[in-house]
Amino acid sequence: MNNLVRSNIAKLIPYKVNPTNVRWVLNANESPFNMFEQWQEDILNELKKENINLYPSANCDELRMLLAENNQCDAENIVCGNGSDEIIKMVTEVFVDQGDKVIIPIPTFSEYFTSATVAGGEIIRVPSNPDFSFDIDEIIRQTNIQDAKLIFLCVPNNPTGLASDEKDIQRIIDETAAIVAIDEAYFEFYGKSSLKIALENPRVIVMRTLSKAFGVAGIRLGYAIAHPDTIDLIQRVRMPYNISSLTQAVARVAVRKSQQVQQITQSLIEERKRIVTRLADLPVEIFESHTNFILYRTAKFSELMNAFEETGIAVRVYPNDPMLNNCIRISLGTIEANDAVIAVFKEAYQHD
Ligand SMILES: Cc1ncc(COP(=O)(O)O)c(C=O)c1O
Repeated sequence: MNNLVRSNIAKLIPYKVNPTNVRWVLNANESPFNMFEQWQEDILNELKKENINLYPSANCDELRMLLAENNQCDAENIVCGNGSDEIIKMVTEVFVDQGDKVIIPIPTFSEYFTSATVAGGEIIRVPSNPDFSFDIDEIIRQTNIQDAKLIFLCVPNNPTGLASDEKDIQRIIDETAAIVAIDEAYFEFYGKSSLKIALENPRVIVMRTLSKAFGVAGIRLGYAIAHPDTIDLIQRVRMPYNISSLTQAVARVAVRKSQQVQQITQSLIEERKRIVTRLADLPVEIFESHTNFILYRTAKFSELMNAFEETGIAVRVYPNDPMLNNCIRISLGTIEANDAVIAVFKEAYQHD
C-alpha cells in the first residue's frame, strides 16, 4: 500500500499526545479553569436553541457576529475553523501549491510544518536569534530570494512566549510580497494585535482561538480575521458545516463572557509574574513570556524532569529540537499548581 501514499504524507509523523494521568496537566497551554460549572445555565439554554436533527449554521452566522463585535470588525472579516489548527490548514491549502516555498521562523508551533508538508510546500526554516527573537532581516531576505508564498509568524510565539515588535511585523509585510499569516493564539495574554493591518491588507491574516484564554479547548473553535477578499478565498476550501451546532452554541456563550475571560486572563498574568519573581534567584533561564506558559532553560534538566514526574506535573519538552535543548515549557495553572511548579524548581536548586 505504501506505494499509493503521497510521498509528502509518507514522511509525516502523526501528532502524538501522551496520555496524561497526572495531577496537574501543564503541557498543552490550556486554561486551568473549567468554566462549565459557572456557565452551565447559559450553555444549556443556548444548546436548547439548536436543532441537532438539522445541520448547523453553515457559516456560524451568529457566532461570527459576536466575534466581529468583540473585535470591532464585520462578520465578513471572519471565518471559523475547527480549532485554529483547521484555520492554519485552510490558509495553507489556499496559498501553497506543490513546491511552493513556506517561510517558518524556528522554533515555533508544529502545525505550520504539518500543513505546509501536506500541501506539498517546501519549508524554509529561518532560525531565530539566540534570545529567540525572530531574525527579521533573514525572514525578509529568504522570503524574497526564495519567492516564498506564505510566511507563518506566531505572535506571541509558542514555545518561546516571546512577542515580536509591531514595527518588525510591519517590515515583514511591507518588504515582502508573501501572505503573512499571524497566529495570535495567545493574543489575550499579550494585548497587542495585527488585526487592524489584516482588515486593510488582503495579504495579512490573523488567526485566533477560543482554546487558550477563553478556556474552551474542548469545543475546538478557532477563527481567522482578514480582508473580506481573503476570507472569501478561505471559504472556498472550508468544509461545509465544519463547526458543529454544539460547538457554535458553547462558543457563543464563551464569547459573550469575554469580560469575565479578561479578568481570568489578568489573574493568570499576575500568576506568571509571581512565578517569575519567585524563581528569579535561581540559575534558571526564564524567557520573557507574553502567553499563558513560561519557557525555562535549565542545566538540571533531567533532575527536574524526574521531579515533575514524581510530583504529578505534566510539562512539555523538545527532545528532537537542538535549539530547545534543556528547555521545559510549563503552562500557567491554578495557584496550587503553580506553587507546586515553584516548589519543584526550588527543591532542585536548594543545595547549590
Ligand atoms: C500558536 C498556536 N496556534 C494554534 C494552536 C492550536 O489551537 P487550537 O486549539 O485552536 O487548534 C496552538 C495550540 O497550542 C498554538 O500554540
